[in-house]
Amino acid sequence: MSGLLEGKRLLITGVITDASIAFHAARVAQEQGAQVVLTGFGRLSLVERIAKRLPEPAPVIELDVQNTEHLDTLADRVREHVDGLDGLLHSIAFAPASCLGAPFLDAPSEDVAKAVDVSAYSYKAVAKAVLPLLSRGSSIVGMDFDARVAWPAYNWMGVAKAALESVNRYLARDLGERGIRVNLVAAGPVKTMAAKSIPGFEELENGWGDRAPLGWDTTDPTPVARSICAVLSDWLPATTGSMIWVDGGVHATGQ
Ligand SMILES: NC(=O)c1ccc[n+]([C@@H]2O[C@H](COP(=O)([O-])OP(=O)(O)OC[C@H]3O[C@@H](n4cnc5c(N)ncnc54)[C@H](O)[C@@H]3O)[C@@H](O)[C@H]2O)c1
Repeated sequence: MSGLLEGKRLLITGVITDASIAFHAARVAQEQGAQVVLTGFGRLSLVERIAKRLPEPAPVIELDVQNTEHLDTLADRVREHVDGLDGLLHSIAFAPASCLGAPFLDAPSEDVAKAVDVSAYSYKAVAKAVLPLLSRGSSIVGMDFDARVAWPAYNWMGVAKAALESVNRYLARDLGERGIRVNLVAAGPVKTMAAKSIPGFEELENGWGDRAPLGWDTTDPTPVARSICAVLSDWLPATTGSMIWVDGGVHATGQ
């Protein structure tokens, strides 16, 4: 039986540890037959070491989404490994300490600007950078944490995610004529490096499993990884501009 992503060439951003959502997305994608190229930010030798833990060791390309030269040369550097792309996973977010867990009213605008640039604008920036490689039927996926409501501690990252949700709709509008789908996976809390760096993350994750109609395990990234792979596959061919909740169903409850 062939895999869900047989023959697909995917660019996966956002691996920093083997707990990263992107790591598990890459693992499941390879298990489903995909060829994966990773991007890494900053600690490249660490990312290269983590990349070797995948079922198939994957090449790593350097990408700081705030570095124009990295973005301008990204497509050429991806072409050194694959002749085109069928999918892109954007799994990148960052906010300075003042924006997460600290008093919401005190965050300075330059910190907020950085959070929005890295976590929302970059979705467009990376998509544009690899556009020459994406053919009809390709799928772009970004990672969201439901931004329709105000959460404990999430603060300006929540604002950045609200921006990301909007970027997702505009990208879907503009890339539709090329036959490219653009969707977000809105995940429930998963214990990763980014999550642990949120002071007050416990407040977010506490009780999630009890509120979720299907239950929820914050230590299990596989349901999120599998859902990302489903959206990267050919099996949601008429879905774009959407948020796909992978949260055990918490978004649908009133608790
Ligand atoms: N963990 C959760 O509970 C959860 C829930 C919903 C959504 N998400 C989202 O999933 C995505 C991945 O986060 P994660 O939880 O796997 O954590 P993670 O820390 O493993 O991944 C975050 C990634 O962002 C990268 N990054 C930060 N600044 C960058 C820059 N300037 N250029 C390029 N890359 C940069 C880091 O290198 C890292 O690989 C994020 O968008 C996050 O907001 C996470």
